[in-house]
Amino acid sequence: MSAQVVCQVSDLDPGEAMAATILDPLGQSLQLAVVRDELGDWYAIEEMCPHGAVSLTEGDIGTCEVECWAHGARFNLATGEATMPSPRPVKTYEITLDGDDVLVDVGAEREGK
Ligand code: FES
Repeated sequence: MSAQVVCQVSDLDPGEAMAATILDPLGQSLQLAVVRDELGDWYAIEEMCPHGAVSLTEGDIGTCEVECWAHGARFNLATGEATMPSPRPVKTYEITLDGDDVLVDVGAEREGK
Protein backbone atom coordinates (compact mmCIF):
# COMPACT_ATOMS: atom_id res chain seq x y z
CA MET A 1 0.00 0.00 0.00
CA SER A 2 1.27 3.45 -0.75
CA ALA A 3 1.79 6.19 1.76
CA GLN A 4 -1.19 8.34 2.73
CA VAL A 5 -1.23 11.99 3.78
CA VAL A 6 -2.07 12.29 7.49
CA CYS A 7 -1.48 16.01 8.09
CA GLN A 8 0.58 19.02 7.12
CA VAL A 9 3.98 19.87 8.56
CA SER A 10 2.51 23.09 9.96
CA ASP A 11 -0.11 21.15 11.98
CA LEU A 12 2.34 20.11 14.72
CA ASP A 13 5.06 21.93 16.59
CA PRO A 14 7.80 19.98 18.39
CA GLY A 15 6.35 18.26 21.45
CA GLU A 16 2.85 17.92 19.94
CA ALA A 17 0.80 14.99 18.65
CA MET A 18 -2.47 14.47 16.85
CA ALA A 19 -4.73 11.57 15.94
CA ALA A 20 -5.15 10.53 12.31
CA THR A 21 -7.21 7.90 10.56
CA ILE A 22 -5.95 6.06 7.50
CA LEU A 23 -6.76 2.79 5.75
CA ASP A 24 -4.75 -0.35 6.40
CA PRO A 25 -3.81 -2.76 3.59
CA LEU A 26 -7.20 -4.52 4.02
CA GLY A 27 -9.13 -1.26 3.68
CA GLN A 28 -9.98 -1.04 7.38
CA SER A 29 -9.74 2.24 9.29
CA LEU A 30 -6.66 2.50 11.46
CA GLN A 31 -6.18 5.10 14.20
CA LEU A 32 -2.70 6.52 14.49
CA ALA A 33 -0.94 8.97 16.72
CA VAL A 34 1.24 11.27 14.64
CA VAL A 35 3.89 12.57 17.00
CA ARG A 36 6.55 15.25 16.68
CA ASP A 37 9.00 14.77 19.50
CA GLU A 38 10.63 17.60 21.41
CA LEU A 39 13.52 17.66 18.92
CA GLY A 40 11.08 18.06 16.03
CA ASP A 41 11.44 14.53 14.65
CA TRP A 42 8.30 12.85 13.25
CA TYR A 43 6.86 9.46 14.26
CA ALA A 44 3.68 7.45 13.70
CA ILE A 45 2.48 4.84 16.20
CA GLU A 46 -0.82 3.14 16.97
CA GLU A 47 -2.98 5.63 18.81
CA MET A 48 -4.29 3.83 21.88
CA CYS A 49 -2.22 2.78 24.87
CA PRO A 50 -2.29 -1.05 25.09
CA HIS A 51 -2.88 -0.77 28.84
CA GLY A 52 -6.20 1.09 28.61
CA ALA A 53 -8.48 3.26 26.54
CA VAL A 54 -6.19 6.28 26.56
CA SER A 55 -4.99 8.10 23.46
CA LEU A 56 -1.22 8.42 23.34
CA THR A 57 -1.74 11.78 21.60
CA GLU A 58 -2.51 13.07 25.12
CA GLY A 59 0.75 11.75 26.56
CA ASP A 60 3.86 13.62 27.61
CA ILE A 61 6.25 13.80 24.66
CA GLY A 62 10.00 13.68 25.17
CA THR A 63 12.89 12.78 22.91
CA CYS A 64 11.85 9.76 20.83
CA GLU A 65 9.41 8.85 23.59
CA VAL A 66 5.84 9.38 24.74
CA GLU A 67 4.61 8.68 28.26
CA CYS A 68 0.98 7.70 28.80
CA TRP A 69 -0.50 10.16 31.28
CA ALA A 70 -2.77 7.55 32.89
CA HIS A 71 -0.27 5.15 34.50
CA GLY A 72 3.12 6.17 33.20
CA ALA A 73 3.95 3.55 30.57
CA ARG A 74 6.66 4.90 28.25
CA PHE A 75 6.83 4.08 24.56
CA ASN A 76 9.84 4.43 22.29
CA LEU A 77 8.51 6.27 19.24
CA ALA A 78 10.99 4.65 16.85
CA THR A 79 10.74 1.02 17.99
CA GLY A 80 7.43 0.89 19.88
CA GLU A 81 9.20 -0.64 22.90
CA ALA A 82 7.19 -0.15 26.07
CA THR A 83 7.72 -0.09 29.82
CA MET A 84 5.30 -1.43 32.44
CA PRO A 85 2.39 -1.38 32.89
CA SER A 86 1.87 -1.67 29.13
CA PRO A 87 1.43 -5.37 28.32
CA ARG A 88 3.11 -5.02 24.91
CA PRO A 89 4.89 -2.63 22.54
CA VAL A 90 2.95 -0.39 20.16
CA LYS A 91 3.14 -0.70 16.40
CA THR A 92 5.21 1.92 14.64
CA TYR A 93 4.93 3.01 11.02
CA GLU A 94 7.11 4.63 8.39
CA ILE A 95 6.54 8.37 8.25
CA THR A 96 7.94 10.70 5.61
CA LEU A 97 7.70 14.35 4.67
CA ASP A 98 7.03 15.52 1.11
CA GLY A 99 6.98 19.30 1.00
CA ASP A 100 4.19 20.31 3.40
CA ASP A 101 2.64 16.83 3.42
CA VAL A 102 3.25 14.30 6.20
CA LEU A 103 2.75 10.77 4.90
CA VAL A 104 2.43 7.41 6.67
CA ASP A 105 2.69 4.00 5.05
CA VAL A 106 0.83 1.46 7.20
CA GLY A 107 1.94 -1.29 4.86
CA ALA A 108 5.45 -0.69 6.18
CA GLU A 109 5.44 -1.32 9.93
CA ARG A 110 8.74 -0.50 11.57
CA GLU A 111 8.20 -3.20 14.19
CA GLY A 112 10.63 -6.07 13.87
CA LYS A 113 13.08 -4.26 11.62
S1 FES B 1 -3.69 3.43 30.17
FE1 FES B 1 -1.69 3.92 29.48
S2 FES B 1 -0.39 3.21 31.07
FE2 FES B 1 -2.39 2.69 31.76
